[in-house]
Amino acid sequence: MTFAYRGGILSAEEVSLEDIARRFGTPCYVYSRAAIERNYGAFARALAGRPALIAYSVKANSNLSVLALMARLGAGFDIVSGGELARVLAAGGDPRKIVFSGLGKSEAEIEQALRAGIFCVNLESEGELARVDAVAARLGARAPIAFRVNPDVDAKTHPYISTGLKQSKFGVAYNDAERLYRDAARRPNVHVVGIGCHIGSMMTAAAPYVAAAERIVALVGRLDAASIRISHIDLGGGIGIRYRDESPAPVAEFVRGALAALDTRTEMLVVDPGRAIVGEAGVLLTRIEYVKPGESKNFAVVDAAMNDLIRPALYDAWHEVRQVRETELDAVAGVYDIVGPVCESADFLARERKLAVLPGSLLAVMSAGAYGMVMSSNYNTRPRPAEVMVSGAKASLVRERESVDQLFAAERAFL
Ligand code: LLP
Repeated sequence: MTFAYRGGILSAEEVSLEDIARRFGTPCYVYSRAAIERNYGAFARALAGRPALIAYSVKANSNLSVLALMARLGAGFDIVSGGELARVLAAGGDPRKIVFSGLGKSEAEIEQALRAGIFCVNLESEGELARVDAVAARLGARAPIAFRVNPDVDAKTHPYISTGLKQSKFGVAYNDAERLYRDAARRPNVHVVGIGCHIGSMMTAAAPYVAAAERIVALVGRLDAASIRISHIDLGGGIGIRYRDESPAPVAEFVRGALAALDTRTEMLVVDPGRAIVGEAGVLLTRIEYVKPGESKNFAVVDAAMNDLIRPALYDAWHEVRQVRETELDAVAGVYDIVGPVCESADFLARERKLAVLPGSLLAVMSAGAYGMVMSSNYNTRPRPAEVMVSGAKASLVRERESVDQLFAAERAFL
C-alpha cells in the first residue's frame, strides 16, 4: 500500500507523514513515486505489443517532478496550453510525443507548438483549422492535425466533467467531421494524422468509453472510403479512480474494450489518462488549528482550504480523510466537518466525518494527486502549499511553499 499506517502513523511509502509535516510544514501535497509508476505501468502493460502512445494529461498534475518521471517512463503528454507545453519541455518531455488539446488555442500557442515540433494538434472547430493552417503557412510548416470529434455518448459522470454530449462546448459534431476532414485534406499546410475524442472524466464503467471508440472507428472507416488516411486514434482520458465506494473497472478492461472496438484497424492507439495515473498517488496533508464545537455541528478547522483543494466546493467531491495518528491519545471521537480558514461557506474539505482528534492533529485528505494543486488559487492571499515527492525512504521538496511576497510582487499600488 502506498499510504498505509506504519507503527500507527500514516506514511507515504516508507516516510511518515508526521516527518513530512515537521520537515516541510503544512498544508502540503505529498506524492508517491512508486504509486505513479505503478499506475502508469497498468497502461503500459495493457497496451504492450500494440503501437500505442500513453499521453499523460498534464492538467491533472503538472509538477515538473511528475512530468520528468513520466518522460523517463517513456510517456507522451496531452497538453492544453502554451504554459503546459513549456513545462513539459522544461521537464525533458519529448515534443514528438505531445498532443495539444483544447478548444481555444491562441495564435501564439499554435506557433509555439509547431516550432517545438509536436506530434499532433487536436482541432475543435472549423475556425481553429483555418488558424492552424494560416500559422503553419506563415512558418512554412505543415501542421500535424486531428479533429476531436464529439461522439455524443454519455460518460455518465458529473455534469461539470462530462464532455461528450451534443450540448458540450468540446469537439466538432460527429456529423460534421467528414466534411471538416475533407476540408483539412485539401489544405497544403496541414497534415491530417489522426482523430480523437474524450467524453468525460471519472468514468467508472468501460461501456461508454468503448461505445465512443466504436463510433470513432466507424468514422475512420468513412474517412478511409474518402481516401483520407490517418495514423492514430486518440480515445482521450477519463478513467475513474476510487474516492469513496466507487469500483472503477480496471484500466485493462477499458483498454481491452478499446482494442476490441479497434478490431482489425492498425492505427496507433493514443490514450491520455490523467487522474488514473496521479489521483490516488497523492494526499493533501493538513493540520488542525482548532476544534470548534457548534450548536448543530462540530468543526475541525484545518490549515488547508478550498483554495488548496477546490474539488469538494466545486463538485461536491468526496475525499476520504484519515487521521495521520491512527489513535490520538486523549481524543474523544466526534463527527466533524473539516473546514478551512477561507471566508466562504463552501470552504470545506469534507463533511460529517468521524474522527478522534485534537488541535494540532494531522489529517490526510486522500486521493488528492489529481486536480488538487493544479486547481489551487491564492484566494484570501493564501500562499499555495508545498509539494513533496516520496520515493522509498526519501522525501524531496518538489515545489517550495509560496511566500506572501511572491503573491503581490507583480502588483503596483496605483494612486
Ligand atoms: N484528455 C482530454 C482531452 C481531457 O479534457 C481530459 C480532462 C483528460 C484527457 C484527462 O482526463 P482524466 O483521465 O484525468 O479523467 N477538474 C476535474 C476534472 C476535469 C477533467 C478535464 N479534462 C476534477 O477535478 O474532477
